[in-house]
Amino acid sequence: MSLASTNLAIDPARLWDTIMDTARIGATAKGGIKRLTLTDLDAEVRRWFIAACEAVGCTITIDDMGTIFARRSGRDNSLPPIAIGSHLDTQPTGGKYDGIIGVLSGLELLRTLRDAGYETTHPIEVINWTNEEGSRFAPAMLASGVFAGVFTKEWAYARADRDGLTFGNELTRIGFVGPEPVGQHPLAAHFEVHIEQGPILEAQDTVIGVVTGVQGMRWYEVTVTGTDSHAGSTPMTLRRDALLATARMIEAVNTIALAHAPLAVGTVGLIEARPNSRNVIPGETFFTVEFRHPDDALLAVMEAALYTAFDRISVASDVEHVVTCIWNSPAVHFDEDCIKAVRSAAVHAGLSHRDIVSGAGHDSAYIAAVAPTSMIFVPCLKGISHNELESAEPAHVAAGAQVLLQAVLAMDALLTERLGA
Ligand code: GLV
Ligand code: MN
Ligand code: MN
Repeated sequence: MSLASTNLAIDPARLWDTIMDTARIGATAKGGIKRLTLTDLDAEVRRWFIAACEAVGCTITIDDMGTIFARRSGRDNSLPPIAIGSHLDTQPTGGKYDGIIGVLSGLELLRTLRDAGYETTHPIEVINWTNEEGSRFAPAMLASGVFAGVFTKEWAYARADRDGLTFGNELTRIGFVGPEPVGQHPLAAHFEVHIEQGPILEAQDTVIGVVTGVQGMRWYEVTVTGTDSHAGSTPMTLRRDALLATARMIEAVNTIALAHAPLAVGTVGLIEARPNSRNVIPGETFFTVEFRHPDDALLAVMEAALYTAFDRISVASDVEHVVTCIWNSPAVHFDEDCIKAVRSAAVHAGLSHRDIVSGAGHDSAYIAAVAPTSMIFVPCLKGISHNELESAEPAHVAAGAQVLLQAVLAMDALLTERLGA
């Protein structure tokens, strides 16, 4: 790496101002953001992102999953780009940082390179992946999953939200079905800055997490069927209460995860009871389960325990149920060169750092299958995320962006050197 590149520095105040500026789009009263995928607010932040990238001289490509690629030319534009990707969509009660600092650190990197007149060998691209959160359209990481060939586009288009609106129709409605066929976009490498979304970095007073991989995740959808009946006149012994059976199943999910703690986690995050009337015994429920663990073999053990427990509970509660595993995202190990580039960048910047495995899902987990990939974590207050109170220190966010810049430049140099070899 040249001396010029090692001296480049991002502008912390400009990055922070940009984060706060875009936080207006979908701002909530409690200081967070509600910007669900493919809503009008998502369209608004997309338009903002495109304009901001065009202002630094980027050209924009959009694929037919709505993913936006903002490209800064390099010295050799026949080479695939080094990419920086994350997401601008949020949870219903999301914070200002999850995903957003990944995309906006990429924008800050573009601005820094422009100001310095610095030319990379590879083109650089900043990517806004569509529907990372999976809150409105399950599963998470949907567009990066299609990009990596894990899901088909047709399957993704047919995913419906809880109101029955489909991903394909909503993508069309907001005007973001791009002309490029998804996946036809080779990447030389992919980096992502993200808040940790857990407590480890803060507890250890460490600024940079060098992310070596992402734990495995499985999502399930469950329907339980009993019988609607009168809450006053149906004796306790004659009830087929779907919600009571569901409560027992939720307890079982918790017990299974606890049996494999501390690495395992299990959550029921969404539940609907029908008819949802106070004097009707609930005849049907729909709920979701997710399990996560860094070891896929352990996830299989947890899944078997779930099926056994739910069968037992259904029989004991005189109800029927159907469980469908709708998503299985195996544990991922990131690329050694990219991990090294991040670690060296942290050392170069004089920042405390440690290796870490991500507990949360990220687009990088799928992109790792099609391009050398790694991530950079920065601390967030008390590890709180997927919460409007999510908070991160400006200095930590700036440190993440600085490490990103140096890691991208180091990767550009490494890959260029290999081309010449
Ligand atoms: C993505 O936000 C996840 O669920 O980890
Ligand atoms: Mn995220
Ligand atoms: Mn998230």
